[in-house]
Amino acid sequence: MNADVKIVSGRSNQEIASKIARASHRELSHVTIRNFADGELWVKFEENVRGVDLYIVQSTFAPSDNLMELLLLIDAAKRASALRITAVIPYFGYARQDRKDQPRVAITAKLVANLLTQAGANRVITMDMHTPQLQGFFDIPLDHLYSSSVTINVIQKMDLGNVVVASPDVGGVKNARAYAKMLGDDIDLVVVDKRRPKHNDVEVMNIIGDVKGRNVIIVDDLIDTGTTFVKCAEALRGNGAETIIGMCTHAVFSNDAVRKISSSGAVSKVFVTDTIPLTSTNPKIEVISVAGLFAEAIIRTHENQSISSLFEKAESLT
Ligand code: R5P
Repeated sequence: MNADVKIVSGRSNQEIASKIARASHRELSHVTIRNFADGELWVKFEENVRGVDLYIVQSTFAPSDNLMELLLLIDAAKRASALRITAVIPYFGYARQDRKDQPRVAITAKLVANLLTQAGANRVITMDMHTPQLQGFFDIPLDHLYSSSVTINVIQKMDLGNVVVASPDVGGVKNARAYAKMLGDDIDLVVVDKRRPKHNDVEVMNIIGDVKGRNVIIVDDLIDTGTTFVKCAEALRGNGAETIIGMCTHAVFSNDAVRKISSSGAVSKVFVTDTIPLTSTNPKIEVISVAGLFAEAIIRTHENQSISSLFEKAESLT
């Protein structure tokens, strides 16, 4: 593609946007975003984007103004005649409501896909969606990156030994199995059979697999209230697990999630990525940056090169 590339950032995660721009050897382009007195959003591109291959970086965690801001930026870019608009969404919020699992509920993942498309996005680049099948909700190209291609190096360097990978629920088995295979053909998988009596509450029913004396890596797409992660860790410890480490991509960290993690004797360490900026730090929580992966995806998208090799390491193992 001969068009100029520009990268702009919404306000939800300017840290990762700056890192993505730096890793792509570019400056972030200027955009002004303001709120009216009642909270209504207003955006303006402060430089020409006509004919530009434009990448808008915005994670859509709560509040939903983050999503609204992204929609406004896409709309403004379309009206300013950007050639191609790619929504770069490190954390894709509203993805957990992906089916009609009870009467009279919304399917928000599909709704957000429709909103992005209707606003004028031509492509989406995102990471570790709640379920990879959500790609099918989009009628525009979507590149789904796997954080595992970066985070696996951190675990390998720890050289833990006697490792087992755990999925905190049945839905995460495919992802956890892929992670286990990346660590080695002989790495076992353990599944925690969890129930949700109500939203953000969790009961651990069974642990399927042997964890006695083993070092366990819990792989999950996100930690929200921390209930799933901490209850799984405690159940694993109750079954004789040694060191318990979390590898959870999106640090949603609602309510007292950080306190729960830090006060749990069962949890040794939790690795998260920078798809969502942390508002508080804790010695048990370590951030791994995935900005380089997003930058590479942007460069390759612009140059019309395949980006599959960025994630084939993870995908070929699923
Ligand atoms: C569930 O399917 C997800 O993968 C997470 O395990 C879950 O959303 C975490 O929520 P919380 O931290 O509130 O238990």
